[in-house]
Amino acid sequence: MSTALVILAAGKGTRMNSDMPKVLHQIANAPMLIHAMRSGAPLDPERTVIVAGHGFDAVKAAVEDYDPEATVVLQEEQKGTAHAVDAARAALADFDGDVIVLFGDTPFVRSETLENMVAARKDNAVVVLGFEAADPGKYGRLVMDGDQLSAIVEYADATDEQRAITFCNSGVMLAGGEEMFALIDAVEANNAQDEYYLTDIVGIARDNGLSVTAVACEEEETLGINSRLHLSQAEAIFQARARAELMDLGVTLQQPETVMLSHDTIIGRDTVIEPNVYFGPDVTVESGTHIRAFSHLEGCHVSRGGVVGPYARLRPGAELAENVRIGNFVEIKNAILDEGAKVNHLSYIGDASVGHDTNIGAGTITCNYDGVMKHKTTIGANAFIGSNTMLVAPVTIGDQAMTASGSVITSDVPAEALALARAKQATKPGLATKMFDLLKSKKKKRDEGAN
Ligand code: UD1
Ligand code: MG
Repeated sequence: MSTALVILAAGKGTRMNSDMPKVLHQIANAPMLIHAMRSGAPLDPERTVIVAGHGFDAVKAAVEDYDPEATVVLQEEQKGTAHAVDAARAALADFDGDVIVLFGDTPFVRSETLENMVAARKDNAVVVLGFEAADPGKYGRLVMDGDQLSAIVEYADATDEQRAITFCNSGVMLAGGEEMFALIDAVEANNAQDEYYLTDIVGIARDNGLSVTAVACEEEETLGINSRLHLSQAEAIFQARARAELMDLGVTLQQPETVMLSHDTIIGRDTVIEPNVYFGPDVTVESGTHIRAFSHLEGCHVSRGGVVGPYARLRPGAELAENVRIGNFVEIKNAILDEGAKVNHLSYIGDASVGHDTNIGAGTITCNYDGVMKHKTTIGANAFIGSNTMLVAPVTIGDQAMTASGSVITSDVPAEALALARAKQATKPGLATKMFDLLKSKKKKRDEGAN
């Protein structure tokens, strides 16, 4: 059976206290809506329809950026979850498969859970995803009758007896598309909130002799995000899952709870990650590398055998070939470092390429910005850049060339040449002692004057 995904994301999210629509707030550096879209991906949906309202343009842009095939429809006024699904009707007019409804603010439903729902759908017209709530609060309550679901009762409309039920509605629902829209037609807004509840289709289906059941999942999967506190809890859940997955894949995390990952972080096996490492978006780290403590990586690639940190910063466009070493207080941006290159201490390498086995001394800076434009530094293979060299770009250093430490290099250095670009040293024998004596007598006079 083909499936369409309908994700409800029109709500304002008042409790986020934000100018940004709730579903665009990020978890692991991707909007929570994208996580919700991903959670439905294991169903291999033939269509994806996002129902947006508040912040429509921003939501549409984020969705299209992630999946250009997805359709974003407008629900102008938010009149309830049934009304929201109804907004997807036109987009699914010619679709005759199943429809699964997810919430854009409930991003962590597992693929196994969705598979359980699909399995239950074989014998049921409607399948609802429920969970045993530790604190059922204001969730809709699932009223069961054996293995059949009789009704979902919203908290505001529930009797005391119903409020005592702890099996709650996650909001995820699966049904045949045509049937779902037919049931929605029968939904009325006669309830405590004057809303069209999607949950009402359960009772209506049962009244029509259809079978409806509920499948249970872990409460963690149904975490709905309504506040910044929930957002931080969602981040923690994502991080815990992602770290566990990495460790399963053979990555050592010495202190897992201190490592922050992004939604798309890729790390190869037998890599060791020391404590307090941050992976921003778009990072791939190959097998057998060592990322040392307090490093910050983003938009970069580290190849096999690399060592990064401690306290290193790899910014977008940092491309490290095999066995490259980046040491403490080194920043690399938009630069390609060839095999075996080393930048071990206190340096900035930006808009540059560095040849294989080149050694960049401590305190080297590529002066890539002239205040208006960025310029490139090209360094050959097996070169040696002396400590505290300023490479004023655009500039090229040839293979096996050397720069003397403290040099300010403003013109190209050919292969195998040594460039010295610093003031000549003058050494005066005995002058230090004279200087000390002079200074001490000055100090003495000053101290006496003060008394
Ligand atoms: C809903 C369920 C409740 C369930 C709970 C789980 C209904 C009537 N109630 O309640 O049983 O326990 O979720 O979290 O379905 N939305 C729209 N347009 C609207 C209304 C809502 O797009 O007109 C979207 C919201 O942005 C949100 C989702 O639908 O992503 C759920 O809406 P929300 O108002 O949070 O429903 P709850 O009251 O939490
Ligand atoms: Mg809610």
